[in-house]
Amino acid sequence: MNDRFLRACRREPVDRVPVWYMRQAGRYDPDYRKIKEKYSLLEICRQPELAAEVTMMPVRKLGVDAAILYSDIMNPVASIGIDFDIVKDIGPVIHNPVRSAADVDRLKPIDAEGDLGHVLETIRILDRELDVPLITFAGAPFTLASYIVEGRPSKSYMNTKALMYGEPDTWHKLMGKLADMAATYLRAHAASGAKAVQLFDSWVGALAPHDFAEFVQPHVESIFARIADLDLPKIYFPGVSSGELLPLLSDLRADVVGLDWRVPLAEGRRRTGGRFAVQGNLDPYVLTAPTNVIQERARRLIDEGVREPGFIFNLGHGLYPEASLDKLRELTAYVHEYSQQKLSS
Ligand code: CP3
Repeated sequence: MNDRFLRACRREPVDRVPVWYMRQAGRYDPDYRKIKEKYSLLEICRQPELAAEVTMMPVRKLGVDAAILYSDIMNPVASIGIDFDIVKDIGPVIHNPVRSAADVDRLKPIDAEGDLGHVLETIRILDRELDVPLITFAGAPFTLASYIVEGRPSKSYMNTKALMYGEPDTWHKLMGKLADMAATYLRAHAASGAKAVQLFDSWVGALAPHDFAEFVQPHVESIFARIADLDLPKIYFPGVSSGELLPLLSDLRADVVGLDWRVPLAEGRRRTGGRFAVQGNLDPYVLTAPTNVIQERARRLIDEGVREPGFIFNLGHGLYPEASLDKLRELTAYVHEYSQQKLSS
């Protein structure tokens, strides 16, 4: 078992820097696109053998040090009573957006075994098949709210913020229910064989720090508190433009914080009180550049990242569909090779 990724999460020494990419299973891969001609994302997720295969494709093709479960942050919300589809070229579209106290009251507790048995079965298959650790994940309350309140992807989060500022009691009730869902779901993942978990809060950087502190932070903290006893690394990814929120994270019971590319790694470590391993944070669009430019940027990150134990090479946000399989494969090999030289000198 390649345990470099887990060692880096625990800030233990490694022989070379571990790499994986957010959204590494995806449309840049022609074989994935072929599968997508036949099945939607949710149809793939409902077939454990196929979902496990799609999870393993980037591991084999790119040589990364961790797998991430093929699923979506929206997957479990059907179990609490939200009706949605993932629509091509749009993203999650919700048929019954949550806008009122009555809507929030209607949400049920998650039944992971009953409604998401296919996801747990995929995790069990991967636990047998993989020779790298499996990361599973959940959506964080604000980021999920930004879909289930808006009804579809949004740039302004207007309806979400209207609920947050205008009906704080309803808001906290919703956040509480989404936090329950995430904690229960991640515990079921761990029981099925997940080796690390990541909480995706991709859009929480849309909030001012004091609003994050008041409306979101207690709920994120409660998720990590309720999985604190699980013996696996826990990652919080506060997503794009979250640099100003980092000082608020220093008490979080997580092991790793994911950084976006706007925050230098050393600054990310400093702002979070030196308590976390850091994961990130290449601008995904650096991959559009010629190889020498990609390598120069990777080298810069590694030089900074390896100054202290606890660095996982990743992007600052998910891969985009037009990324190149060859460039990703080259980048992975380069990170391994360069960091190995650097760590042994
Ligand atoms: O990382 C991986 O390879 C594992 C799979 C994964 C998916 N979604 C599959 C997916 C993961 C980890 C996610 C998380 C996710 N989903 C996030 C957090 C990460 C991030 O990007 O910030 C968010 C915000 C979502 C919500 C979501 N799902 C959006 C906005 C979209 C549409 C945008 C797009 O890229 O098309 C999706 C659909 C989705 N989820 C796709 C995949 C592979 C693409 C559609 C498809 O192939 O059917």
